[in-house]
This record gives sequence, C-alpha cells and structure tokens, in this order.
Amino acid sequence: MVKTNNKGEMLSEHLEELIAEDISNNFEPFFVNATAGTTVLGAFDDITAMSKVCKKHTLWLHVDGAYCGSVIFSKNHKHFVNGLELSDSFSVNAHKMLGTPLTCSIIVTQHKTQLYQSFSNEADYLYQTATNDYNLGKTSLQCGRRNDALKIWTLWKSVGTKGLERIVDHQFKIAQIARDYIESNKNYELYSFKDSISVCFNYKGIRAKDLCTALYANAELMVGFGKFNDKEFVRLVTINNVITEADILAFFKTLETFVDEKMLKVTVTD
Ligand SMILES: Cc1ncc(COP(=O)(O)O)c(C=O)c1O
Repeated sequence: MVKTNNKGEMLSEHLEELIAEDISNNFEPFFVNATAGTTVLGAFDDITAMSKVCKKHTLWLHVDGAYCGSVIFSKNHKHFVNGLELSDSFSVNAHKMLGTPLTCSIIVTQHKTQLYQSFSNEADYLYQTATNDYNLGKTSLQCGRRNDALKIWTLWKSVGTKGLERIVDHQFKIAQIARDYIESNKNYELYSFKDSISVCFNYKGIRAKDLCTALYANAELMVGFGKFNDKEFVRLVTINNVITEADILAFFKTLETFVDEKMLKVTVTD
C-alpha cells in the first residue's frame, strides 16, 4: 500500500521507496497507476511527481481518470491533471462525469504500437480490409462494443466543446453548494475538501452506515458511505448534470427531517 497525504493523494516519495524495496527483493515493477479522482474522496494524484519516479525506473504510468478525468474538458479544472501528457496511458469514463449512457469508457495511449502488440489477434474471418489502419478491432480492447464511442461523439456533437466544459464545471459548482451548506450548519461535520465532487460528511454524530441504510430502507434517499483512514462518512456524489441547487437543499432537508422525526426515535442495528 502506497501512503497518501490527508487528501488521499499518493505520496510519490513513498511510492519510490516501495519500488526500490521491490527491486531489492528481486521483483520487477512495471506499472504505476495514478488516479484522477479517487473513488471515495475524489482526490487527484500529482502526475508530474509520479512521472519522475516512473521515468527513473522505466515504469509505465497509467492515469485512471474514470471518475474525474473529464476535467480535461474544462479550462477551470483541467489543471487537476497537470502533467497528464507525461503519462503513458489515460482512461476516462464519459458515463460518469459527462453523463453519457453506460458504458462509455475511453483509453488513450502515447504508444500505439503497444495496442497492436496487445490486441491484434489473427482473425481473418473478422479483419478483411486492406490495411491495418482500418482494422480498429486490432488495436482495441473491445470488438463490436467499441461502438460505445458513439455515445460521447453524439454528446459532443450536440453540446459542443463548450457544452462539455459546462457539464464538468456544473459538477464542481454543485459540490461547492453542498459543502457550503454543510459548513454553515453546525450539526454537520465535513470531511472532503475544496475541488472534490465527493462531498463527505457526518450528521449529528450518527454512524454513516446506519444513516445511509435507514434512509435507503425507508425509501427516503439513496446515498452511499465511504471510509478514509479511521473515519467513516456519508459520501454524496454530485455527479449529475441536471442536479440543481434546489435538489441539493432538498437532499439535506429530507435527511434532516428523517433523522429528527424518525431515526433519533428508533434504534438501528447492524
Ligand atoms: C477511480 C475509478 N476507476 C475505475 C472505476 C471503474 O469504473 P467502470 O467500471 O464504470 O469503468 C471507478 C468507478 O467508480 C473509479 O472510481
């Protein structure tokens, strides 16, 4: 396990220590995964710092931007993935931040020949065009499903590059509204930080798992919980382009009413 700082960002000094330890134990490290938007906290690893470590030891650096890699479309937020051009490969899920239908996962790499070496199988019953440039199946993880790309293509055509930027910026704006609400109400404790679309909090000291389970069982709200170090918290993900400020306030109102009128009067067990 590579240590992180208190925002959940990987510490590249510790990464380097672990690589050296592996090498001295005759293991052969070959791949490092940085994350652009960790699943629980929404943290962004320092790609530039990790790239230095990778280049020194000739390791492949992948950036997993499944959750928040779509920041590349926003002038205001793309600095979170500074150094991305130093990575060897990058993945991003348009079905998360951009809201395309499931599934629409993209992987791009600087090393096209690696795609051929990894995915090009002999299959003359499938690949019958003249040159390999038109045999996209030979460089893709997917076969017929590579048509998933149509989902982001049609979205892009319909809203334009500025529209994609607006979608991304909206997620961060809504998360900020949620954080402001939490910080202005002393019954809440906030765990997440600025610039994250995972809004993590606790309410009135109630155990997050109990609260989320009770909200779900009573068909009030469906919201998950997460854990970082020894803290467990409710994890509200504001990843929906049609969510408004009113929806966020309604979320908190529903939660508070439920807790005060029902939950604090009943005993919840595991
Ligand atoms: C950081 C990260 N990577 C990868 C995934 C996997 O996503 P999917 O299975 O939709 O491609 C997730 C899902 O939440 C994620 O948060």
